[in-house]
Amino acid sequence: MDKLPGFRDFYPADCARRNYVLETWRGVARRYGFVEFDGPVVESMELYEKKSGGELVGQLFTVGVTAEPGAVKGALRPEMTPTLARMVAARERDFKKPLKWFCVPNFFRHERQQRGRLREFCQLNCDIIGESSPAADAELLAVQIDMLRACGLTERDFVVRLSSRTAWQDFFQANAKRADGAALTADDEYEFFQIVDKAERAPAEKTGAVLTKFSMSADTVLAFMLSKEPTAELTPIIADLQARGLGAFVELDYAIVRGLAYYTGVVFEVFDRAKNERAVAGGGRYDRLLSLMSDGKVDLPALGFGMGDVVLLNLLDEIPAAKAKLDAWCAAQHACDLYVVIAKEELRPQALALVQELRDSGKRTDFALAPAKVGKQFQAAENLGARLAVVIGEEWPRVKVKTLATREEREVSREEISQL
Ligand code: HAM
Repeated sequence: MDKLPGFRDFYPADCARRNYVLETWRGVARRYGFVEFDGPVVESMELYEKKSGGELVGQLFTVGVTAEPGAVKGALRPEMTPTLARMVAARERDFKKPLKWFCVPNFFRHERQQRGRLREFCQLNCDIIGESSPAADAELLAVQIDMLRACGLTERDFVVRLSSRTAWQDFFQANAKRADGAALTADDEYEFFQIVDKAERAPAEKTGAVLTKFSMSADTVLAFMLSKEPTAELTPIIADLQARGLGAFVELDYAIVRGLAYYTGVVFEVFDRAKNERAVAGGGRYDRLLSLMSDGKVDLPALGFGMGDVVLLNLLDEIPAAKAKLDAWCAAQHACDLYVVIAKEELRPQALALVQELRDSGKRTDFALAPAKVGKQFQAAENLGARLAVVIGEEWPRVKVKTLATREEREVSREEISQL
């Protein structure tokens, strides 16, 4: 039977690659003082319909829909931000601010499967809640940059494209006029953000056609998109990153506006310099989401980003230094370090005691479950990537230890084995 398209099997080699990414993410997040949290895989549909917005709402996998009147419609989580906002709003008083939380969950989106886009993926989220100063934006961008540096990528390989919805909001208020003469609404503004979000990839005529509703031309919008003047909001963030020595990783780029509805101020996306991949990460400020979630009871500024494992692994495969680091880590994940070869079957009980002892002392140890020729056992040791073969035979209670890479052999006492 075939696997459903877009969902993922993780054979051991795939699992090792995913674990490399997860361990790197967790290690860097902890280095920056972020703590891990998680939430449910299924949330109410309403949470995403109301809070995510944009294309995401059409990509939900619904679950638990029953015919009972009033039954709650559920959806597999397509992102974490609404869950995080819900969780923090519910127990806000229990936590000192600012909160620095991260998670590495898997998400589900009903997308057309293509390179870097699956229906199931892992995504690192780092979020800071309860801090409105630009220092928080810089801290978030720094941890994001360091996630990629820790994978062996440099400023030659990727760039953070930094932008601001506030800048676009000001632009919209200054330039837009509804063709029907009505006053501009928040929905108009979001519609405009979505036009900007697509403008980089869409033909200018198409952008021009959708902008007529707001009496704007594609040229004015495209000219603002290409301007490189940082707003007052962005200047201190850039200066902070420069002070950390991370300035080269960031470029001002007003083409970025982000698709999701909840973003309010600074927004950004991370791309490979070669532009072979879709965004590896994206995020920004969502200062109004907690208030929206709690009907105004909790009002905390917030910001965060998500980084996907699918795009990241595609990118690492393309950059030789990063690929070598990934491959070396995966190679070190082989099944065992020591392989106990039972050369005399009548010594199996003693071998079992030794195997148990080695495992108790934390050594990754394996052995043949069924009697086998010595040659076959050595072959198994090689296949499993063992460093040493410990041979239990004639010499017992002494054992022969063979270094498999060099074929070097020595005899050691039972006591010395624990030092291997
Ligand atoms: P997003 O831009 O939808 O943001 O996703 C962030 C990253 O997740 C993307 O850049 C991409 O690497 C990965 N990703 C998204 N969809 C897929 C897919 N179908 N297949 C593979 N990878 C995918 C968010 O989700 C926001 N909630 C991030 C955030 C956190 N904002 C604030 N805090």
